[in-house]
Amino acid sequence: MERTFAIIKPDAVERNISGKIISKIEEAGFKIVGMKKIHLSKSQAEGFYYVHKERPFFNDLCTFMSRSPVIVMVLEKENAIAAWRTLMGATNPANAEPGTIRKEFAKNIEENSSHGSDAPETAAFEIPYFFSALELV
Ligand code: CMP
Repeated sequence: MERTFAIIKPDAVERNISGKIISKIEEAGFKIVGMKKIHLSKSQAEGFYYVHKERPFFNDLCTFMSRSPVIVMVLEKENAIAAWRTLMGATNPANAEPGTIRKEFAKNIEENSSHGSDAPETAAFEIPYFFSALELV
């Protein structure tokens, strides 16, 4: 079993479609082992996305991620990291496969409704950024 980290981003929470996204997660066989709703500060978003700090979109991304609440989750499944990225679809919804979360719900490449860890080392940073071991059940 593998664990990955997931976010339902502000654009999706604002449109009241987090339930639809959580349904897709459960239907795909993930176990939700941690979940909470939080409102990130700008500096908390910057710390989370520090690997992108040199990118031109970094400031806009952190402003977006801190403008309203998000739902953060830890998902468990065999090959969870790859499976969650497949279910989300491509970062840019214009390139996402039909049936994926980003194809169905994302507004654009930045407001793309969901986030997922891209590798085991990333999950190992992202999960404890938001959850203590006692919160994962
Ligand atoms: P995410 O999977 O959370 O990882 C980094 C985020 O940066 C990405 O989803 C998008 O929200 C955003 N992003 C990536 N590329 C671009 C881009 N070219 N322009 C604007 N935002 C981007």
